Amino acid sequence: MELITLNTKNTTYQIGVEPNGFLLHLYYGARTEGDMSTLLTRYFRGNNGVPYDHKGDGTYSADSLPQEYSCYGSGDYRNHALRMADASGVQGADFRYQSHRFYEGKAEIPGLPSSYGKEGVGSCEIILTDARLQAELTLTYGIFYEEDVITRSVSVKNTGEQALWLDKIMSMSMDFLTGEYQLIHFWGRHFNEMNTEITPVGHELVSIGSRRGVSGHQHNPFVILAQKECGEEYGSCYGISLVYSGNFTIQAEQDQYCQTRIQAGLSDEMFHYPLAAKETFYTPEVLLAYSADGLTRLSQIYHAFIRDHICRGRFQHIRRPILVNNWEATYFDFTGEKLVEIAREAADLGIEMFVLDDGWFGSRGPDDRGLGDWVVNEKKMGGTLDSVVKKIKSLGLQFGIWFEPEMVNEDSDLYRAHPDWALTIPGKPPVLGRTQLVLDFSRKEVRDAIFAQMTAVIDSTQVDYIKVDMNRSICEAYSYGADYQNFGTLCYRYMLGVYEFFERLTKRYPDLLIEGCSSGGARFDAGLMCYTPQIWASDNTDAIERLNIQYGISFGYPVSVIGSHISAVPNHQNGRITEIDTRAAVAMSGNFGYELDLTKLSGEEKDKIRHQIADFTEHWELIHHGLYYRDSSPLEQKEYCAWNYTSPDRTEALLTVITTNTRANSPVSYVRCRGLDRDAMYRCDETGFSYSGNILSSIGIPLPIVPGEYHAFRFHFKKED
Ligand code: DGJ
Repeated sequence: MELITLNTKNTTYQIGVEPNGFLLHLYYGARTEGDMSTLLTRYFRGNNGVPYDHKGDGTYSADSLPQEYSCYGSGDYRNHALRMADASGVQGADFRYQSHRFYEGKAEIPGLPSSYGKEGVGSCEIILTDARLQAELTLTYGIFYEEDVITRSVSVKNTGEQALWLDKIMSMSMDFLTGEYQLIHFWGRHFNEMNTEITPVGHELVSIGSRRGVSGHQHNPFVILAQKECGEEYGSCYGISLVYSGNFTIQAEQDQYCQTRIQAGLSDEMFHYPLAAKETFYTPEVLLAYSADGLTRLSQIYHAFIRDHICRGRFQHIRRPILVNNWEATYFDFTGEKLVEIAREAADLGIEMFVLDDGWFGSRGPDDRGLGDWVVNEKKMGGTLDSVVKKIKSLGLQFGIWFEPEMVNEDSDLYRAHPDWALTIPGKPPVLGRTQLVLDFSRKEVRDAIFAQMTAVIDSTQVDYIKVDMNRSICEAYSYGADYQNFGTLCYRYMLGVYEFFERLTKRYPDLLIEGCSSGGARFDAGLMCYTPQIWASDNTDAIERLNIQYGISFGYPVSVIGSHISAVPNHQNGRITEIDTRAAVAMSGNFGYELDLTKLSGEEKDKIRHQIADFTEHWELIHHGLYYRDSSPLEQKEYCAWNYTSPDRTEALLTVITTNTRANSPVSYVRCRGLDRDAMYRCDETGFSYSGNILSSIGIPLPIVPGEYHAFRFHFKKED
């Protein structure tokens, strides 16, 4: 059997090419030498799934061998990765290996965002063909050696003269010969995103995904397949992160021989894609990582990778401006004068940017009108936007503004002029979300019209930042302007349109900071992060609920992509009251900002804000670029929630603890700080004591017992000479 082996610094991925042209998945895990086909066994498998060229050999079954990319019709009855049909709709494929090649660098995926890398990045491309369908399948692997990441994507080309049909095409599929696994996945809803759930993978399909047109609050397109005994600091685990922001599926199950298969990619619901002669279809990319040392290490691989090989642009590695956003301060109830008042306070406190949220355009406010008309409401603003922005900028602040480009209200000039630009189904009343409809971004003329309106605003007011919102899911996947098969292609084409739109924006404004937003975390994924180096993590700004949300996010995404703000108390979403120090400690674990009426603060609160800004400015590098450690889990219902950042050279660490449960006469909580040099001594700024790295890593420090809940503690450790 010919072997194709991909090595990163600490991992090995091996594929076997059978003499019959089948591709077998032999191994993915810790770096190793050798021929892993020695792990294969061939016992009698009931004469099922025997390829014709093995006629009579009941030990050769496509249904039990580990497949690299299983196709429906090949004799593998498990969950397949590809289902294709010929022009008359007859499904069934038989792709066989033709060739493969390694090359330096990494190619882009036409129309889709993907990871990038220059130095030390290689690729491998495997080509298979199907004689009946006259199609060519390309499996592409990106090899990020230092980063320990392997990317996968797939394309299929119709090489014949007849149309073909694609009914399912996953970005990756992988089989494990042995092992008991659990799927760690992240579910949620609006205001309550990224709950961590652990589901054992047994003999039924564990399946998560989205059919909402966006990746969604309900399931995040990032999962971990972990061996049963895996924890933060030990055990084997695999990460799968989909670089895509639309409908998706991630599925895992054990087969009849207790082998585990996992797959990720486009959802096959509402997917029925005609592939014209000579056309090529491209799947989104997945980012695969493996850790032999538990979940912390796996997360750290993703943190660095998303920061360095997914995020782009000027703001990729630098500190983003500390901002104040007027949404929770005023909602729709503001005037230009009120905005300038808030900005004046902001400048005085040391805040660096003012962001004008929803409500500044068309007839907007309340929220059932105006979307689609990106023309300044000068009556409300008391003048031109430019005059307000000039006042704000003269205070020394940068200026940011909110858009929701993909949406339209029926009550808007845009909709009245172009009702067919919205996604609705002829003859059926549309389903609404926040009284709005989704614009048909699969159509270039629609994107062009919105782009022209947006750029007119950005250009005329010299905007430094935009927040791009998207507040409802897609329900009616029908385009009025389609020159292609509508059903089964719209959701994919819509996403390509959204990406083209973002591509254009980022090319035209390379220095503009863009924050992705979708009612909070509804489109929080590595796809959007290729354009927006930060994403509003949740519309829930309560510090305590955010602990759980930001804990979930930390498994697959770095702190530097999280948008997180201090808001007023009682909190507007759940009524909880927390101290401003607690709100600051949580908001600082992200892109720090404020979202409250600064003109209503007490003198003491203002002093604290000045101190917070100085504090964040001092520590942001450690927070955003340090190694991140989860020191407690909300799943354990502890008395506290804790996490720490340790500098890569292990000379300093910052430990944050929030108490979440109070009990009378309670035992003392010892909180660990991880990632330190165990042989070194560290001095703590707050306690004034010195501790050995060994003690901090294994026992931790005692937490003061303070009555009441939700107190924040911060400990900064510095290595002693
Ligand atoms: C939803 C966002 O998540 C909020 O931050 C805010 O921008 C509103 N939309 C405005 O409508």
